[in-house]
Amino acid sequence: MTQAPQETGVTEPPGEEELSRAGLRLTVEGAVARITISRPERRNAMTGRTWTTLAHIGQTLPEDVRIVVIAGEGDIFSAGIDLGMFTPEGVEGERSIIGGLTDGSADEADLDAYIAELQQGFLWLRRPDLVTIAAVRGYAIGAGFQLALSCDLRVLADDAVFCMKEPALGLVPDLTGTKPLVDIVGVHRATEICLTARKVGAEESRELGLATLVVGVDELEGAVDDAVAALLTVDHGAATATKDLLLQAEGNTLEEQCAAERAAQVKRLTTLAKAMAAQA
Ligand code: CAA
Repeated sequence: MTQAPQETGVTEPPGEEELSRAGLRLTVEGAVARITISRPERRNAMTGRTWTTLAHIGQTLPEDVRIVVIAGEGDIFSAGIDLGMFTPEGVEGERSIIGGLTDGSADEADLDAYIAELQQGFLWLRRPDLVTIAAVRGYAIGAGFQLALSCDLRVLADDAVFCMKEPALGLVPDLTGTKPLVDIVGVHRATEICLTARKVGAEESRELGLATLVVGVDELEGAVDDAVAALLTVDHGAATATKDLLLQAEGNTLEEQCAAERAAQVKRLTTLAKAMAAQA
């Protein structure tokens, strides 16, 4: 089975103060949640708190939310991790990623646990009960690229630029992006993109399948709204079961996938039959 909403015991959504400290804005209207990465003075660079708060948003979304749209404030999606996170002094109010290793206050196991916590901010975007859309203007660098890769759809403005910068900084992409990148472009192209840390523009992204759609900058909002409207025409139960099936497909043999299709369809038919009986 693929990821389902986590039972974490956390029920209250993040308040304005938590969102603001994380550099995020959140609006929820009916079935649609919109998250905006909002640290324009740092080109929407993200911190550990951005990702723990993203996880908090995922844990506490109202049940009737079906679509999540993630965008950046202004003309950039995100400049990736706040580079201050790699300085010993870190970012104010945040744990430095490297500080504990340099001063000996943290060991490798601590760091592994911390990165696992940060990855939770990205993992929930795969949940089968949601369709997640990255609306990308301008740069999506490093963690920004990985956040876009965590979404089901990437709608790009024609000025969008992806860049997996981590290897150029002596690091690896560790925020859940390597698997979707390889799934989409294949291991050879993914190797070239990561190990040159080069910029991949919107047109190339479309050719590689990284972009679901590329539109003019002024058309981005409208194109995302159209995608949201189209996605909402499908029954939520059918959408959830279908995304669940699609997510399993790659790891299943044909036989296993056929069995999964049958099991899912029997559940759908049972649900539809019950609804018909209730109406009769
Ligand atoms: N972290 C912290 N501050 C950042 C930042 C970042 N990632 N990116 C930009 N800023 C800050 C700049 O320091 C600058 O601050 P001041 O005004 O105080 O000088 C301000 O934002 C504006 O930046 P620029 O003048 O550089 O803006 P630009 O429009 O000319 O360029 C940019 C935009 C191409 C995104 C460029 O800022 C840039 O290359 N940023 C760094 C990108 C980067 O290396 N990110 C890390 C990738 S690795 C990762 O994300 C994951 C990981 O785990 C390692």
